[in-house]
Amino acid sequence: MIIRPHAEQAYAHELSALQAADTHPKPQGWLLSPWAVATYILGGEVEGQVIEPKYFGQRRLIEVAIATLATDRALLLLGVPGTAKTWVSEHLAAAISGGSTLLVQGTAGIAEDALRYGWNYARLLAEGPSENAMVPSPVMAGMNAGKIVRVEELTRIPAEVQDTLITLLSEKTMPVPELNTEIQAQQGFNIIATANDRDKGVNELSSALRRRFNTVVLPLPQSLEEEVNIVQNRVVALGNTLRLPESAAPLAEIRRLVTIFRELRNGKTEDGKAKLKSPSATLSTAEAISVVHQGQSLAVHFGNGAMNAQDLAAGLQGAILKDPTNDLGVWQEYLEQVVRKREGWQDLYRACKDLTD
Ligand SMILES: Nc1ncnc2c1ncn2[C@@H]1O[C@H](COP(=O)(O)OP(=O)(O)O)[C@@H](O)[C@H]1O
Ligand SMILES: [Mg+2]
Repeated sequence: MIIRPHAEQAYAHELSALQAADTHPKPQGWLLSPWAVATYILGGEVEGQVIEPKYFGQRRLIEVAIATLATDRALLLLGVPGTAKTWVSEHLAAAISGGSTLLVQGTAGIAEDALRYGWNYARLLAEGPSENAMVPSPVMAGMNAGKIVRVEELTRIPAEVQDTLITLLSEKTMPVPELNTEIQAQQGFNIIATANDRDKGVNELSSALRRRFNTVVLPLPQSLEEEVNIVQNRVVALGNTLRLPESAAPLAEIRRLVTIFRELRNGKTEDGKAKLKSPSATLSTAEAISVVHQGQSLAVHFGNGAMNAQDLAAGLQGAILKDPTNDLGVWQEYLEQVVRKREGWQDLYRACKDLTD
């Protein structure tokens, strides 16, 4: 049993139902029409098969993202950490190309090879430069196969390496000077890049490269209810794979957690009455999902089966106290100013105090 199946494996049944029902026009090289891709991401129903929503948020954003990929421009998903950039890009690739595994993880140490090609040195020495001796990057493989390639954390890649993508995106070719030839991309090839706009040590995108991308900004959830809904949905899905019952993560506890995250993130209480200090950690939706998930696991294995204030408190501390010198003060102030005074939250106040004292 695989720990984490790829999107195209986990949702194979949805993708084939959509493919069977799809009568809308498909761009060359796409497995599904833009309409079917949008239905796959946002949810719906085709011929009795329920399509689960993967992304919760504005429909228009997803439509713009999909429409971009059907043109000759690449797609850049931008946003603060935990806004589902990676998640959306995986599902887009799965729906459009049938696979999400052509992936380059952007890091500061990445070399051009990772975006172009490398060499199998044993072969290179034995046979000299030949197509056989080449080790194609995921980008090259995607050009050859006419598939979507994902580049994660584009702005962590040094600027001069990023610029490798310029020719590739404007000419849709990759020169191979060693073999005196070039690779021409097949229809269906495109790039989805993701980047955090609140990352330390980022490399700005050069304006030449930025022009090759259409940017779609994925926002943080607007309302408390929306965010609670996202967290609950993802927790249920994660719980299913780990056999944690849905009842282990009661909605009331999820709502408390999301409220705390939002208040600390926004620097004010939900009713807008009190100003608060924010901790250094990015308290994202994704982080909320893992805190609930952890609480659920604590409750099932060591508690009474349903996440309560104690289980929640343990996860909260871990998520919020990332920089011990600064965050502890912020957190204690929040506990005293908000949690202690809020009706029905005394159990949580005690549980958190027991951990910090
Ligand atoms: N609006 C949303 N809709 C659905 N899932 C979301 C949303 N926001 C966050 N998530 C969840 O958060 C988790 C982490 O998202 P991820 O794609 O890794 O974030 P990013 O790449 O933006 O840092 C995913 O499991 C995803 O399901
Ligand atoms: Mg990401």
